[in-house]
Amino acid sequence: MSVSEEFGAAYWEERYRHADGSGHGPNPQLMAEVTDLPPGTALDAGCGEGADARWLAERGWQVTAVDISPTALDRASRREHTGRVDWVRADLTSWAPAERHFDLVSAHYVHPAGALEELVDRLAAGVAPGGTLLIVGHAPGESSPHAPRSHVTTEQLAAGLDATEWDVLVAEVRVRPVRHDGHQTVLRDAVLRARRRS
Ligand SMILES: C[S@@+](CC[C@H](N)C(=O)[O-])C[C@H]1O[C@@H](n2cnc3c(N)ncnc32)[C@H](O)[C@@H]1O
Repeated sequence: MSVSEEFGAAYWEERYRHADGSGHGPNPQLMAEVTDLPPGTALDAGCGEGADARWLAERGWQVTAVDISPTALDRASRREHTGRVDWVRADLTSWAPAERHFDLVSAHYVHPAGALEELVDRLAAGVAPGGTLLIVGHAPGESSPHAPRSHVTTEQLAAGLDATEWDVLVAEVRVRPVRHDGHQTVLRDAVLRARRRS
């Protein structure tokens, strides 16, 4: 099976049809990094069942939430009550945000078919001057069964950012214990937070 088949639309749709995870809360790295930012426009790329987009909307952000899975988007939108989220079905391997448009662009554990570095480049282009790029991925060494072949380092995440345009505020691995299927496991989050200079 090719990488694009493995992590393509059919894979994600099948996964969401088989399991409803829409009860889970927002990502802890998002909460840690965004709580201090004033609300504005946000893009949640690969929003899944929408916990992060809803959390942002409840804090006053106007959110564009993009995912490839109709099932995930349907579940996500049913739980959203602020009216501040636009749910968009699109393929992030080709879809790109409007240039320099969003005050915040975030993506959590998006493992698209194709190169992650290219996705980060496209997402970074959507960050407005003074805005924030927040990318979280599974760091190498993680024992999670979810995406064992989709690890990424903070160096890879930051590789495409032009140092004359960006200040990298966070580039680190954070370890957190979680329970999954009744078992205790440890997640290793590769966290990149960068700010585009004004
Ligand atoms: C591991 S889930 C993470 C979901 C959510 N960000 C979270 O942290 O709970 C990855 C998400 O990325 C989406 N995704 C993967 N490839 C995509 C693509 N090419 N275009 C749009 N969404 C994609 C999947 O449908 C899935 O919802």
